[in-house]
Amino acid sequence: MSNIDTMLQEERRFPPPTEFSSRSHIGSIEEYERLYRQSLDDPETFWSQMAEELDWIEPWEKVLEWDPPFSRWFVGAKLNASVNCLDRHLGSRSDKVAIRWEGEPPNEQRELTYAELHAAVCRFAAGLRELGLETGDRVAIYMPMVPELVIACLACARLGLVHSVIFAGFSAEAIKDRVNDSEVRAVITSDGGWRRGKVLDLKGNVDRAVADCPSVEHVIVLRRTGTEVDWNEGRDHWWNDVIRDAPAECEPVALDAEHPLFILYTSGTTGKPKGILHTTGGYLLGAALTTKYVFDLRDEDIYWCTADVGWVTGHSYIVYGPLAMGATTVIYEGAPDYPEPDRFWDIVERHKVTIFYTAPTAIRAFMKWGDEWPEQHDLSSLRLLGTVGEPINPEAWMWYHRTIGKEQCPIVDTWWQTETGSILITPLPGATVTKPGSATKPFFGIETDVVDEAGESVGPGAGGLLVIKRPWPSMLRTIYGDDDRYRDQYWAKYGDRNWYFTGDGARIDEDGYLWIVGRVDDVLNVAGHRLGTAEVESALVAHDSVVEAAVVGRPDEIKGQAVVAFCTLESDSKPTDALKGELKAFVGEQIGPIARPAEIRFAEAVPKTRSGKIMRRLLKDIASGAEEVGDTTTLEDYSVLAALRESEEG
Ligand code: WT7
Repeated sequence: MSNIDTMLQEERRFPPPTEFSSRSHIGSIEEYERLYRQSLDDPETFWSQMAEELDWIEPWEKVLEWDPPFSRWFVGAKLNASVNCLDRHLGSRSDKVAIRWEGEPPNEQRELTYAELHAAVCRFAAGLRELGLETGDRVAIYMPMVPELVIACLACARLGLVHSVIFAGFSAEAIKDRVNDSEVRAVITSDGGWRRGKVLDLKGNVDRAVADCPSVEHVIVLRRTGTEVDWNEGRDHWWNDVIRDAPAECEPVALDAEHPLFILYTSGTTGKPKGILHTTGGYLLGAALTTKYVFDLRDEDIYWCTADVGWVTGHSYIVYGPLAMGATTVIYEGAPDYPEPDRFWDIVERHKVTIFYTAPTAIRAFMKWGDEWPEQHDLSSLRLLGTVGEPINPEAWMWYHRTIGKEQCPIVDTWWQTETGSILITPLPGATVTKPGSATKPFFGIETDVVDEAGESVGPGAGGLLVIKRPWPSMLRTIYGDDDRYRDQYWAKYGDRNWYFTGDGARIDEDGYLWIVGRVDDVLNVAGHRLGTAEVESALVAHDSVVEAAVVGRPDEIKGQAVVAFCTLESDSKPTDALKGELKAFVGEQIGPIARPAEIRFAEAVPKTRSGKIMRRLLKDIASGAEEVGDTTTLEDYSVLAALRESEEG
């Protein structure tokens, strides 16, 4: 595994504060180990007991049916996710704040109690039903981070409509692909959305996309920014009109535990995004349990996950996990540096946030902006910090620990994926001694290993591939409409051993701690978001001037990785700076701003193997400015390397 870097030896250890442990759900490592062992030795009993965390309409006949690689959990059971997130709290928590929302424009705030959120969800669900939408229909949601985004998700869940949230930073092209792939019947959007004081043209993007989406019958539009929009009579409906004529009550549908709850698209190694399918019972249980144990949630907590609901982190840890557990969840609409780089700390202070969950890329940005921003605020309400999205470098971990946590707050470095549905590898904050940069130990029921290509466990200290050796409740069920790709991508690698292949490299240290070192395939991780190199390449070659493109990541201090694109041009195109700018913007339009290359290099040719495969490894070395590039024995034409080095920008 020479392509997997091993990290520097990290000697620092952080035991949970005694005070913290004594009040935790899991207060010692022995208790964690006992439950973990039970979860592997007797999964039926373990999961049956854990499933009591949720409200079920009908009980299950069987905990698991495993017909590899297809799993069914809580077979025969019925439940409704919106009932678990809302109705069941109406007794004891009806006046408790469910959502504390803060708009990007300063001074814009809203609070919704569980009773109010329940009423809003029922009314909107009733409106969707009046439009003729039926259980099983797919609904795309392309909205800014406003409470109505959560209302839309839960209204879908109430009726068994399968939601597909599309991140509001994505372009019309990206919407079109996703909407067509799952034949969406209705799109829920807003006129615009705020980002750093500017308005994103959300309705315009939907209009451009849906022009090529024959399955879409309805577009529902929330007024958010007051921007003028084009109107397609018959197809378009204002959100307020949908709810105005709708009854206030809406009976939840009793759904099979395996009824699809949502599809969420994520990048793979080939161009087409994969529609990751999650179902109701197992997913909700995974999200709820991890929210409870990983964040050590208590009723009085003010919990804030800074992700966007457009990513899985927002699904599981803004919407389903916290609401299923009856938490108060903070939602912030905008950018972390708007109007100033202290916006997050200002929110923590004013809302007295106790649990704060963010991404390494954000932490590195805060470090760069300087300590003066958090120092202006009282952060003493915080008791627990979390991180997710990519490996966190120990220095960022230490900064988070000192400057934000004031050395008082445990940090949970949580490893998981869109596919896993919920956190799989993580410290438990009252139990686990943490080490900066390690996601530590598997959660209950998760059997992890680090293996070589042949499937042999590698010993302590050695690098290998991270696998999960048995199914778990919140695992993806398939790739929407493509069981074969599901099997090939995640289960084929180790054949009939039926292990889930994560695509991540990792090592286990002598204490059994897991250190994730990043993706081993051609997938970038830009600011915590997975991006397929192939997707960016296909966007580039869609431009008239580009014949061939090869995209790689180079290490970036803030974003983890930055996109570098090597492009070969049509013979009549001039390699100018203006064209570089145009190509960057073009990718931004085709996919969205996160995919925008940080650097474009023009090249006569890209290095290829004799069999014609682009040698990304070499390009990566070149893109990151390495003096020496790796093994070139399979390289077809050596002269391209020298030329590529000279192509450096600026
Ligand atoms: C990939 C999954 C799960 C929500 C965010 C991204 C990387 C995620 C960690 C972590 C090291 C991490 C992995 C993983 N990743 N969390 N704590 N330490 N790497 O979801 O887009 O599905 O990406 O993000 O490479 O495979 P995603």
